Amino acid sequence: MAHRRTKVAIVGAGPAGLLLGALLARHNIDAVIVEQRSAEYVLSRIRAGVLEQTTVDLLREAGVVDRCLQEGLTHDGIELSFDGGLHRIDFRALTGKHVTVYGQTEVTHDLMQSRARGNLTTDYEAEDVRIEGFNGEHPVVRYVKSGVVQELTCDFIAGCDGYHGICRASVPPEAISTFEKVYPFGWLGVLADVPPVRHELIYANHERGFALCSQRSKTRSRYYVQCSLDDQVDQWSDDAFWDELRRRLPAEIAEAVTTGPSIEKSIAPLRSFVAEPMRFGRLFLAGDAAHIVPPTGAKGLNLAATDVGYLAQGLVEYYHEGSAAGLDQYSARCLSRVWKAERFSWWFTSLMHRFPEAGAFGSRLQQAELAYLVGSRSASSALAENYVGLPL
Ligand code: FAD
Ligand code: PHB
Repeated sequence: MAHRRTKVAIVGAGPAGLLLGALLARHNIDAVIVEQRSAEYVLSRIRAGVLEQTTVDLLREAGVVDRCLQEGLTHDGIELSFDGGLHRIDFRALTGKHVTVYGQTEVTHDLMQSRARGNLTTDYEAEDVRIEGFNGEHPVVRYVKSGVVQELTCDFIAGCDGYHGICRASVPPEAISTFEKVYPFGWLGVLADVPPVRHELIYANHERGFALCSQRSKTRSRYYVQCSLDDQVDQWSDDAFWDELRRRLPAEIAEAVTTGPSIEKSIAPLRSFVAEPMRFGRLFLAGDAAHIVPPTGAKGLNLAATDVGYLAQGLVEYYHEGSAAGLDQYSARCLSRVWKAERFSWWFTSLMHRFPEAGAFGSRLQQAELAYLVGSRSASSALAENYVGLPL
């Protein structure tokens, strides 16, 4: 058995775990990350693409913002498509703010590089990860690496191991409350090296279902269509995907879509989920380990970033100022922001998707709400200020 000690043991090397590690390193707080997958596998997961300014600011604080500023695309608005027309929501005019299109894969890549440069420890391919003792003074993370049992003792555990991780599952059921909504459809996503159809993202409400035109760069597009939960990825040929996408867009946009071979294709189910509280003794949950939003509002990655921003702040105060106040407030501060993002993501999902049970009445209500949304400055502002991110 190998034994090691650190101040903060971080479980999970997704964006939450890696960003927390980088923020702590800036403040000379020793941390070790334990990840069950390989670095290549983590980098191969295609997920989010839109960063709020608060997330970019945290990347700056962590010392990993350069490439994001160089290569990220500034977007001052989005377009909504419904009833055959396109309507722009101008974030800059309504809020003075913008968002940055820069893929989660790139954020993860930059954080991994910065960890490697700093010689910081990440134990990839850790098997059988368990956490113990977080209700007392001496928490431990145990795992197996290359056949050797590892024991990592620490002051605190950061549970950044995503929705399916072991940290939340290690909390006794009577200590945790969970709130969940599962949606009756998924998103089929395609990544392709073709120029995006428009400069900005298009969110489309169509009688055949929702569609989203997103992008990763000026030469790489990310498109999604609402699909059935029974659909299998391998039943969807590239041609079938492009045909379905174009059917759900206004004619002039559909004609302008450049198609090409997919380089990734996957189906994601949609879910809203919150666990309360987010702290259990010396265990702190952050990111998808504590909450999930449907991707419609592009909030998942941004919430993960703000959680670890608050957690890093609490840990810096604890180690450098001898104050536990930030750690004591962690759960309440996060949850107040989380629930607002849950509300926004649920609302935007409800507005843009076809719900099997809603019927003709439901779809007329959606049309009326969309018409109100684009016709009212107050309603447009409410969308814009949530999309660009509520203040910390
Ligand atoms: P994760 O990225 O899930 O990272 C958790 C890490 O912990 C993983 O690397 C995992 O391998 C590791 N882990 C798990 N269990 C263990 C264990 N037992 N021991 C050690 N390590 C473990 N958000 C958007 O804003 N827009 C999108 O388009 C979008 N698309 C998405 C598509 C999919 C399929 C999914 C699943 C999510 C998507 N999201 C999207 C959400 C966004 O990607 C997440 O909110 C974000 O990844 C959260 O980061 P995280 O670090 O908290 O969790
Ligand atoms: C993406 O580019 O993957 C993306 C963008 C915006 C969303 C969801 C996903 O709302």
